[in-house]
Amino acid sequence: MQGMKKILVTGGAGYIGSHTVVELIENGYHPVIVDDFRNALQSSIKGIEKITGILPVVKEIDICDRSAFKAVFEEFEFSGIIHFAAYKAVGESVAFPLKYYRNNLVGLINALELAAEFGVNDFVFSSSCTVYGEPKGNSIVNEESEIQPANAPYGATKQIGEQIIQDFIQTNPGLKVLNLRYFNPVGAHSSAHIGELPLGKPNNLFPVVTQTITGKIAELKVNGNDYSTKDGTCVRDYIHVSDVAEAHVKGLEWLTNQDGDFVEVLNIGTGKGASVLEIIHTFEEISGQKVNWSFGPRRDGDIEEIYANVEKSRETLNWSAKRTVTDAVRDAWRWEQQLKHD
Ligand code: NAD
Ligand code: UD1
Repeated sequence: MQGMKKILVTGGAGYIGSHTVVELIENGYHPVIVDDFRNALQSSIKGIEKITGILPVVKEIDICDRSAFKAVFEEFEFSGIIHFAAYKAVGESVAFPLKYYRNNLVGLINALELAAEFGVNDFVFSSSCTVYGEPKGNSIVNEESEIQPANAPYGATKQIGEQIIQDFIQTNPGLKVLNLRYFNPVGAHSSAHIGELPLGKPNNLFPVVTQTITGKIAELKVNGNDYSTKDGTCVRDYIHVSDVAEAHVKGLEWLTNQDGDFVEVLNIGTGKGASVLEIIHTFEEISGQKVNWSFGPRRDGDIEEIYANVEKSRETLNWSAKRTVTDAVRDAWRWEQQLKHD
């Protein structure tokens, strides 16, 4: 077992973070969450406790506040770091670019600097398939696929983040970094105790569908029906958030067994693509309700079709997604009903 290995989880109260904290606890780790709840609610911590029976340690601080962040490293001896904390809304990043650059890059710089200062060598970074942009030719991207210019400041923060890590490891023997490029994390924990919090108006497909079913959103617009895909709508690699969470645990295990210094990049997806219409139809089947939708124009900057080549993550981590997109739909729907209940 992991003994009581302490893992720093920045952004651990958030969507992917909270699911990862559950997996860490269930695998014998001792996660320490650092999150200032700018995009999370305390109820996610209660949800973690309901699932695992353990109330995780939470330090409510802004990771851009270096001295407050440093105090956490002084208090605990970490064996690894999973760095989730960042802003993630593409549209907002276009409207407020500096807000995104400041939070996503200063947060990462502080985390890396403190990792080096305190000798914490195992570091997992939340990257995104957005770094690939619109794939040229093949829609299945692997880790060697060309990085395209970012279409929004959000994507740029992930590209620059990966570059910062690349440069930093050159001067830090021992440091081992795993950049996980998530495709489209969706769904919720099967218990419905934690899930994605729709703070404000959602833009992502899954929360838009669930909120259309419950009537919070009057009508879903399918963004474009004239793409060269199976049914004319965009195709994505939707992956259950609990599978994403498990990849982090496998990632930490793997890092422990490597010698430094390096950065490894892995796609975290299912390797399968689903269209917008397929997702809507699956929600209709699972919920037994109609989704009120119609076709609208294409969304600016949308990618036609992209999904992950998952060979490298499978071989490296001995991990692959276990849940189907139908599982993710079922759990997203359960979570939406739970939210309505509360
Ligand atoms: P989220 O907003 O639910 O979680 C991020 C958490 O970080 C929140 O709880 C927020 O309060 C916290 N946070 C942000 N800035 C902070 C700061 N300065 N100090 C302390 N806490 C701070 O987002 P998520 O969906 O869980 O995403 C987690 C990571 O994964 C992000 O880095 C995101 O860019 C990346 N990612 C997400 C997706 C996705 O579809 N959700 C896809 C690819 C990559
Ligand atoms: C978006 C971001 C990506 C980010 C990801 C997860 C862009 C260009 N990309 O990805 O960087 O990592 O979210 O946060 O914004 N759709 C509709 N109607 C809706 C909502 C969505 O048709 O009301 C369609 C979209 O046009 C898209 C698909 O559903 O074709 C998936 O959309 P979304 O969930 O926003 O994810 P991405 O666009 O893949």
